[in-house]
Amino acid sequence: MTQTLLEVAKQNGITNLDKTELNYLSKLRVDKLPRHIAIIMDGNGRWAQRRRLSRSAGHREGANALKRIVEFCAPLGIKILTVYAFSTENWKRPKAEITLLMNLLVEYIQKELDALCKNNVKIITSGNIQDLPKNAYLEILKAKHASQNNTGLILNVALNYGARDEILKAVKEIITLVKDGTYKLEDIDHSVIEAHLYTKDLPDPDLLIRTSGEKRLSNFLLWQLAYTELFFTDTLWPDFDKKDLLEALLSYQNRERRFGGLK
Ligand code: FPP
Repeated sequence: MTQTLLEVAKQNGITNLDKTELNYLSKLRVDKLPRHIAIIMDGNGRWAQRRRLSRSAGHREGANALKRIVEFCAPLGIKILTVYAFSTENWKRPKAEITLLMNLLVEYIQKELDALCKNNVKIITSGNIQDLPKNAYLEILKAKHASQNNTGLILNVALNYGARDEILKAVKEIITLVKDGTYKLEDIDHSVIEAHLYTKDLPDPDLLIRTSGEKRLSNFLLWQLAYTELFFTDTLWPDFDKKDLLEALLSYQNRERRFGGLK
């Protein structure tokens, strides 16, 4: 018999599960878990608006949802979680909201770094972090450094990330290396391109989740998502909870992945 995720959850000390969560966990197979999950955490603003709260309250609750999902994914045995925290297009937002998001990131790291390290989580980033405000940049470097030897869940935070910029950067780097003779044109294949993406050390996501009912990719991981299974939910990110993640996992496990081939 294949082990269910419920057995793993119990072994790894996950408690306080309600009936719905127990039901999902008993249906989920350990051998078909996605190795890499990517999430577009959307809907913080609408969550706040519906409660007549400020957008900042929505982002704050979004940060709590992230903490909840990281703490759940780690003991379930998910290997990599990539989250879209700030895109290259998010600079178009009002300055006050950008400052708030950056301060929230700093606060999140200051509050959570110890717990993340205790949970053996390794923090990495995708995106041009050098162009972030100095305090955010330094805090991220600190988190990456402190967690670099951890061997559990890899939390890849996409920050100042845009897939088109990522691909453009790769193209420019490769052209430079062809010009200086490091590569020959005929050597350039998929693996060379992948070696120049931010995600060079990671497998492609198996599952992409986007919350809040929007059904688009918004310049996220355009190369890496070629054969990723997509899951869209109406749940707003601040409300995204364990049962929503388990629902996405069950949907994923009921799909047949053919990667363009036949069964
Ligand atoms: C989308 O909601 C969310 C973002 C642009 C940022 C994601 C940020 C968080 C989840 C906050 C915490 C992150 C870290 C790393 C501490 P939206 O504002 O676009 O929502 P809306 O479409 O309803 O307005």
